[in-house]
Amino acid sequence: MTTTVKAAIFSGRGEAPRVGDVTLPDPGPGQVRVRLSAAGACHSDLSLSNGTLPQPMPAVLGHEGAGTVEAVGSDVGDVRPGQRVVLNWAPPCRSCWFCGNGEPHLCERSSEAAQRPYAELSDGTPVYAGLGTGAFAEATVVSANAVVPLPDGIDSGAAALLGCAALTGWGAVAKSAAVRAGESVAVIGLGGVGLATLQAARLAGADPVIAVDLSPAKEELARELGATHFLLSDDNLAKEVRGLTGGRGADHAFEVVGASATIRAAWGLTRRGGTTTVVGVGANDDMVSFAALELFYLARTLRGCVYGSSDPARDIPVLAAHVRDGDIDLAAMVTDEIGLDDVPAAFQRMRDGKGGRSLIRF
Ligand code: APR
Ligand code: ZN
Repeated sequence: MTTTVKAAIFSGRGEAPRVGDVTLPDPGPGQVRVRLSAAGACHSDLSLSNGTLPQPMPAVLGHEGAGTVEAVGSDVGDVRPGQRVVLNWAPPCRSCWFCGNGEPHLCERSSEAAQRPYAELSDGTPVYAGLGTGAFAEATVVSANAVVPLPDGIDSGAAALLGCAALTGWGAVAKSAAVRAGESVAVIGLGGVGLATLQAARLAGADPVIAVDLSPAKEELARELGATHFLLSDDNLAKEVRGLTGGRGADHAFEVVGASATIRAAWGLTRRGGTTTVVGVGANDDMVSFAALELFYLARTLRGCVYGSSDPARDIPVLAAHVRDGDIDLAAMVTDEIGLDDVPAAFQRMRDGKGGRSLIRF
């Protein structure tokens, strides 16, 4: 038995997807089938589609999704049909060295599902799921540990964002950098992930919370979501940030673009002893450089960060409670509600730095 669903299918690097049929196998041992209710378009999907990040094709991208479990295979413990869930694009195995070391976000096996086909096109061609998730489709089949039960009281659109932008941005602030109340924060890049980072900084009690983007159109939403200041990303940035932070520079910078220029800009606006947390996913050939002496003289830290150093199974319920309590507004981050046909337009908005999150509703 199989299930045929509509999906946005990417056939080649840099090509626009077409909406077509994908045939999903019935969930095997340890797997579940999830009927999607919403999926967000993340910059990482754009990077997978254009070759900035490796992606075997043809592929169904989309890794930020939520839906309802529709069928379960054998050997599936707690997950039941009818349960609302958030998809986790990096399910930890719970048995490798990193998982045992309390770093499930660095799990050695979390990307295994992305490396083998998960379904077939109507002519029998094997198709891959982006980040092992395949959320740009009416349904997907994933490992049971790639779903996290959705707490009650969360709209399915917000639920989708919990699976990537929200968890990544919030985790970067709360887990990776462990921002404390009163610390100064600058966030460079105000897409879905950056806006979540910004809100998490405000929630942590950071002050000032300085939002930075290339596009002036981002100011209004950034201020609405808690930015105390908005600055354009230009040559004066470090100086302007020093002006807002007692002449020293920010305690924390978050780079949420994924490029050497913005990593360098983030580094340059931190204070002596400050920390830059890189949330953006950059290209393999994009090198970052700074003077070696700065590590001594300025004692700055540059930190990498995957999935906000979070454990989705543990942290999605915490984050969901913040959303329910109104501490984090995910609905406001969604600026475009779209259908599967509109994925190319959502990608174009990301290329142009326009809007917040685009959300597919199924
Ligand atoms: N300076 C400041 N802002 C910039 C710059 C720059 N040089 N270049 C781009 N931006 C802004 C864009 O204007 C846009 O507001 O960065 C934002 C990126 O937003 P999205 O494309 O929506 O990206 P998002 O999905 O939030 O992901 C950001 O995090 O998870 C990673 O792979 C993802 O690297 C990507 C990053
Ligand atoms: Zn993402």
